[in-house]
Amino acid sequence: MSQLSVKHLLGIKDLSGKDIELILETAKHFKEVINRPIKKVPSLRDVTIANVFFENSTRTRLSFELAQKRLSADVINFSASASSVKKGETLLDTVNNILAMKVDMIVMRHASVGAPHFLAKHIKANIVNAGDGTHEHPTQALLDSFSIKEKLGTVGGKKVCIFGDILHSRVALSNIFALQKQGAEVMVCGPSTLIPKHIHELGVKVEHDIRKALLWCDVANVLRIQLERQTIKYFPTLREYSQYYGINKPLLDSLNKEIVIMHPGPINRGVELSSDVADSGHSIILNQVENGVAVRMAVLYLLAGVK
Ligand code: CP
Repeated sequence: MSQLSVKHLLGIKDLSGKDIELILETAKHFKEVINRPIKKVPSLRDVTIANVFFENSTRTRLSFELAQKRLSADVINFSASASSVKKGETLLDTVNNILAMKVDMIVMRHASVGAPHFLAKHIKANIVNAGDGTHEHPTQALLDSFSIKEKLGTVGGKKVCIFGDILHSRVALSNIFALQKQGAEVMVCGPSTLIPKHIHELGVKVEHDIRKALLWCDVANVLRIQLERQTIKYFPTLREYSQYYGINKPLLDSLNKEIVIMHPGPINRGVELSSDVADSGHSIILNQVENGVAVRMAVLYLLAGVK
């Protein structure tokens, strides 16, 4: 059986093109499994996994938990807001206490960049990064690639533009790495205040005109404005942002071309994306969510084979 080249999934940056291909191929098999009347397989029957979330989540947390249950793993869930972290316990003490209960794998979301990388240096269990601050969100990028491949047949050679708040986005960085490793061309589009200064060094195109960017791309991956991470004002008002960078039906209709619309969620409806686009036939947003379970099953299954 093929194996991943990594023991932890900390970021897409660490994965080879072959690793990504293996995960996406394995996910295809698991997607078939979760569409059967009996959606469960015994693959991780002897594995215990802790989902350790220090930041809010709907999609990622539920998707990981469902993926684990579909693989027959034992699952425990930890939410920082209802834990002894509130009494001052450190990250390492918290995780070592969870591991003392014979846990094999940790799925962690944390607001601090590098938190899962820090843990990987101190503990033996496999770690999956479910989002570390503004850094990486590897399983989101993998499910995004899976969804593009499912819709367009391939990722290689496709033109993908990531729109919006690139500066605060872990989804953007993981997607840039994943798409480039598979041979896609990547552009970012948004106001200059929300585009990192040195992003061209990653080999991506930069465009500030939304119409030009939409005319260029096959796929538009639209990101949320992350107001909770913005400590200063990056644009005057949400209404103005929406006027210049919001994707709506009249704008798409005026382009006379097919564009696949993606969004990692949660959507700020009426800000970066209008409801008539988010809910239209162009959108594969809920397919992304469905595919997330299969992709996370593949990641957990493959990592469990690497000790
Ligand atoms: N896409 C994503 O990470 O969503 P959640 O924050 O709801 O997990």
